[in-house]
Amino acid sequence: MMAVRYHSYGGSDVLVYEEADRPVPGVGQVVVQVAGTSYNDADSGLRAGLRQDMLPLAFPHIPGLDLAGVITAVGEGVSDWSVGNAVVALLPADAPGAAAEYVAASAEVLATAPRTVELADAAALPLVGLTAWQALFEHADLKSGQSILINGAGSAVGGYAVQLAAQAGAIVTATAGARSRDRVRSYGADRIVDYAVTPVVQALAGQHFDVVLQLAPAGPEENAQLVDLVADGGAFVSVTTPGPEDAGRGVRTVHVFGRSDATQLANLVARVDAGELAIEVAQRLPLADLATVHARAAGRFARIAELAAQVEGGDLAERLRADPAAVRAPAAVGELAGKTVLAP
Ligand SMILES: NC(=O)c1ccc[n+]([C@@H]2O[C@H](COP(=O)([O-])OP(=O)(O)OC[C@H]3O[C@@H](n4cnc5c(N)ncnc54)[C@H](OP(=O)(O)O)[C@@H]3O)[C@@H](O)[C@H]2O)c1
Repeated sequence: MMAVRYHSYGGSDVLVYEEADRPVPGVGQVVVQVAGTSYNDADSGLRAGLRQDMLPLAFPHIPGLDLAGVITAVGEGVSDWSVGNAVVALLPADAPGAAAEYVAASAEVLATAPRTVELADAAALPLVGLTAWQALFEHADLKSGQSILINGAGSAVGGYAVQLAAQAGAIVTATAGARSRDRVRSYGADRIVDYAVTPVVQALAGQHFDVVLQLAPAGPEENAQLVDLVADGGAFVSVTTPGPEDAGRGVRTVHVFGRSDATQLANLVARVDAGELAIEVAQRLPLADLATVHARAAGRFARIAELAAQVEGGDLAERLRADPAAVRAPAAVGELAGKTVLAP
């Protein structure tokens, strides 16, 4: 089969589109013919080796955390799934990923794919959809009638977060630029702040929200300013850099890492099929273009990595110093925004 792989950690140029062995299902696994995968910044972090202490990869490694496809083989011990089932999943980061024609996946991470969207497009749901769900309902404990500021609502995580928060009965203030403003409003945001016109902390100075959800890359100072917008006893929940450990005023600060949860993913799929949750795809490309997508994401990923290193220091800062080329953006490749789906 054809797959995108890398044989060592490094910059986007380590990604090669090449022949690889077609997987066979192990015990508890199925093999899925991939209809689509998608790009996430976590793919860049793994490729650059920034998390190799926690998540060491076996080389050659096939990236791609998000999967949408059709089951072609079922391994021993799998009773809930059959050949021909269309599925979606968030795959484990240290196992072979979905940037290939076929992938072996544990049956435990699978959910039935939505019926109402193109199967490849469903790859735009798992990681960012689960991250939005878990941030809102596991970590922020968002309830009907509460106010929430979603900073970075124009992002893929933000699109799901706005829809889910509005449907939960929250009063949603969202930051979005010209590219995303109308879409974010159509998702149910009550108020939009164009962060490119007025910085969010300036536009909302003196106001307070039960929850501030941080989806935009930010350094410690900007996070501290956003924490000031949280009401006493509220929550600052970040999927990017963490907020201060002790925020005072009874404000909880939480740093979220989206994790696989097949039940939650099935719930998100049900909402998609009920017409309640829109899947937004910014662009669709052939899988062979994955290296170009990583290159286009490199500018913003370098910023995310630099900010994370500022906050975390330690191993991460050391790795960035040791191998800056792993996160450097090649010249003249343009920028990436929104969800990119890639199909073999
Ligand atoms: N912790 C986790 O588990 C996890 C999981 C997934 C993603 N993430 C992180 O979450 C963030 C969003 O990811 P994504 O894949 O959803 O990204 P994405 O769709 O590519 O989002 C990019 C968009 O974010 C908005 N944005 C960027 N900087 C902003 C700022 N300073 N203020 C307000 N909005 C800003 C822009 O929206 P406009 O179009 O409105 O300008 C931009 O188009 C990334 O930092 C990513 O690394 C974390």
